[in-house]
Amino acid sequence: MNLLEQIDLNNTPEHVAIIMDGNGRWAKKQGQIRLYGHNFGVESVREVLKAAKEMKIKYLTLYAFSTENWNRPKEEVEGLMDLLIRTIAGEVDELNEGGVRLMSIGNIEGLPEGCREELKKAQTITSKNKEINLVLALNYSSRWEITNAVHEIAAKIESGELKANDVNELTITNFLSTNSIPDPELLIRTSGEHRISNFLLWQIAYTELYFTEVLWPDFKKEDFYKAILDYQSRERRFGMVSEQITK
Ligand code: FPP
Repeated sequence: MNLLEQIDLNNTPEHVAIIMDGNGRWAKKQGQIRLYGHNFGVESVREVLKAAKEMKIKYLTLYAFSTENWNRPKEEVEGLMDLLIRTIAGEVDELNEGGVRLMSIGNIEGLPEGCREELKKAQTITSKNKEINLVLALNYSSRWEITNAVHEIAAKIESGELKANDVNELTITNFLSTNSIPDPELLIRTSGEHRISNFLLWQIAYTELYFTEVLWPDFKKEDFYKAILDYQSRERRFGMVSEQITK
């Protein structure tokens, strides 16, 4: 039986988030520059998106560019921005035909104009699609997102629109850039690193974590199926005891 046949399609996560790591090391192993790895990483994005649709996953969030990534060498940052612009522009029609709605989270205003424009165009074109939501985390970091939410909440308190005592978990959730997106049930990180790296810290309070040694450009459908099967073998208790969970 192949891996996809083993997956219970009525019990797949609604939202999977992925830290796509290992492009640089993959390129180095091939004797190539880091950007070569990022280019091949786009192929894995395509595969994983297709597999997510097959598995009826509704939200796929990809950590494509972190706030910290600006600290990389200038050529790499420029190359990554260029790759993002080219990829979004080149894929938008296919995404649209496949029912994919493109969304973004992060400090979008801090991105170069060309990137912002392609993103905005693609988001408008695909805004009515319902098959799956592809969420790109761009210029994203959790600490930025939470700080931003605190500023906005503080401004509402200052203006009298909100009372400090009324601020609760839901208020904070509503001020994050993920406010229209359910929390992920599964977070995958590739390349053998066991870190969260400032990604969705608020949203992963109850998320299952899955780490694999596979480098992102090598991560294909079968690797994704394995992660989902692993997820389906776990019991999610949310702080309760086994007997309280009805399957
Ligand atoms: C991490 O590998 C990867 C990135 C910082 C960039 C990921 C971006 C892509 C795959 C392009 C995505 C495009 C779209 C449209 C979603 P790394 O460079 O940190 O690898 P290393 O840890 O081996 O150095």
